[in-house]
This record gives sequence, structure tokens and C-alpha cells, in this order.
Amino acid sequence: MTQKVSLIRGDGIGPEIVEATVRALEALEVEIEWEEVRAGTGAFQELGTPLPEETLASIARNKVVLKGPLETPVGTGFRSINVAIRKHFDMYANVRPSKILPGVKTRFSDSGLDLVIVRENTEGAYAGIEHAIPPNRAAAETIILCTRWACERIVRYAFEYAKTTGRQKVTLVHKANILKETHGLFLEVGRSISREYEEIEFEDLIVDNMAMQMVIRPERFDVIVTTNLFGDILSDLAAGLIGGLGLTPGANIGSEASMFEAVHGTAPDIAGKGLANPTALMRAAGMMLDHMGMTEKARQLNGAIDEVLRQGEAVTGDLGGKATTEEYTAALVEVIKG
Ligand code: NAI
Repeated sequence: MTQKVSLIRGDGIGPEIVEATVRALEALEVEIEWEEVRAGTGAFQELGTPLPEETLASIARNKVVLKGPLETPVGTGFRSINVAIRKHFDMYANVRPSKILPGVKTRFSDSGLDLVIVRENTEGAYAGIEHAIPPNRAAAETIILCTRWACERIVRYAFEYAKTTGRQKVTLVHKANILKETHGLFLEVGRSISREYEEIEFEDLIVDNMAMQMVIRPERFDVIVTTNLFGDILSDLAAGLIGGLGLTPGANIGSEASMFEAVHGTAPDIAGKGLANPTALMRAAGMMLDHMGMTEKARQLNGAIDEVLRQGEAVTGDLGGKATTEEYTAALVEVIKG
């Protein structure tokens, strides 16, 4: 049965990588009908709003959205539309896998590095509770929100994810030594829930130590559960370990809808040049297919990506190759079609 999916092309390199991903999924003959909607700076300039009602209505109807990156103005201007969509649909778990892919040379190529960051996606420092204090922004305050309920939900999600995907260990990353109330609560909840999952190893690490451990010995990590801010930063670090942002996908799993996207942003430095690596969004589409129950199609897509990377002839500039987005996509479609 054909399922409808909302599609947001996004800003910067978004339209290029979305087009490549749609082509790959068409080659796989997935039973998906796209419902294209707008969001981001492009939508703001043309429609006067960065997040039209029609976009929210489409996501509410379809419950699944594939999204290209959206630009967020720095400092002043509208707030992040990514954060707004995640909050609107209560997409509380941001799942970001980082694993070494075939043919991609990094310092960890032979390490077996394969970790998944589960980031709390609705609260923490990104809850949007902030204000400037006059006159002339003499000071500013941002509140870190941390509810017991949200801590329990994200930690439980991480353990359930580990259990269902056959992973062995959950590492909770915090700063409870300094942020004694908010992160103290997160850690307390983590320790308590870990006792319900005796078959899964549990440890906790302070974020500064974690940053160092991830650079020195990232293969020792399996599932990492952390706060919104730390998850945002550590997942880019993890992307760097496996060869860059062009490879790392993300899923925003929610109670009302789920959104699949690349971890990276709009890459303004290469936008419109046909140089972007669409792999991260394609792997996000693989997570989407899994989520929609199309596990065999997801396996085929990931297998084809691995094959093109392994061959190494049509890889993009971020991975040391010379291929354009178009050439990479054509090679992938050829592998898919066999
Ligand atoms: P960025 O991720 O867009 O770019 C960082 C670096 O990685 C750049 O050198 C870029 O060329 C490179 N890069 C990223 N994706 C690539 C790809 N697929 N292929 C090859 N190279 C790639 O981060 P930046 O510059 O900090 O953010 C730019 C904009 O993106 C900002 O407005 C930011 O708010 C937005 N953003 C949106 C996200 C989303 O929609 N989920 C996530 C992160 C940032």
C-alpha cells in the first residue's frame, strides 16, 4: 500500500540532496507518494512565514516527513524552524547513528566504530525560555528546562532502542557536577531506569571527559543518551569521526509524527554548486523506511550506498573524491538497479 510522506526540500544544499534522495528511492520503487510542502528561509521570503500552517497540517496528516536542512538566522530573526517542528510534534528522541562506512578513510577506519547518539529533543537549553535584560541587552538569561517526565522518556527510549537493536551498552552523558539540579535529575533518572535493564551495561560520563574519550577511543561507545545541547554538539563530533557531516543521518522520533533529516546544515559555502554529498540524507531516508516498516528497502538502500563508497569512484569532494552530487547519485541508482 502506498504511504504518503511530507517532503521539505529546505534551504542551501537542501534541494540538491533531497532531489538525489528522491531519485534513489524512486530507483528502489518504494511505495511512497510525496506531499511537498515548504519551510525555512525560502518559504519566509516567498510566503512571508518560515513555517506555513499547510506544512504543519501535512505533517500532522502523514506522520512522517523527510526534510532537507533549513537555515536559521544567527542572533536576530526567526527562531529555528527545525526546533519548532520538533517541538510542535513532540519529536522527543533525536537518534543520530555514526558508523564507519566502507571505503571512507578516517583514523578509525578499522576500529569498528558504530555508535548511536540519542539526544533529548524538546527541553534542556533549547527549550526556548530566554530573554534579554534592558537596557541595551545589558545581560541575557536562558533557562535549562529539565522535567523528570522528559528525562524518563528519553532514557527509556535509549534503553529500548539498545534492546531492540541488539546493542550492549548505554552511556549517559551529563554535567551533573556543575548543573546539580537539572543534570543531577537527568543522572538520577538514568541510574534508576538502568536497573530495569540488567542485560544492558550502563555507565555515566561527564561531558568534558566524554568529548576527550570520543576523540581517543570512540569504539568503546554503543548507545549514548544525552541532553539537547550536548547531543547537538557530540553528534557533530561523532560525524567528524566517521568522515564528516555528509555521512551522518538523523531521525526525530515523536509521539505525533517523526522527521528524518541529515545532521548537517544548509552548507552555504557549497550550495548551488552541485558538490554536496547526499549520503547523510539518503541514510536518513533509510531510517525512515525502517520506521515505516519497509526494512528490506532500507537494507537495499544502505547496501547500495556502501557499495558506491566501497568502489570509491564516484565519491564527493568532502570524502576526497571528485564526483558531483549528480554523478554520485547516478552511480547509486545504477547499483540499485543492478
Ligand atoms: P553546515 O552543516 O551547514 O556546514 C558545516 C560544514 O560542513 C561546511 O563546510 C559544509 O560545506 C560542510 N557540509 C555540510 N553538509 C555537507 C554535505 N552534505 N556535503 C558536503 N559538505 C557538507 O553547518 P553551518 O555552516 O554551521 O550551518 C549553516 C546553516 O545550516 C545555519 O543556518 C544553521 O542554522 C543551519 N543548520 C540546519 C540544520 C538542520 O536543518 N537540521 C542543522 C545544522 C545547521
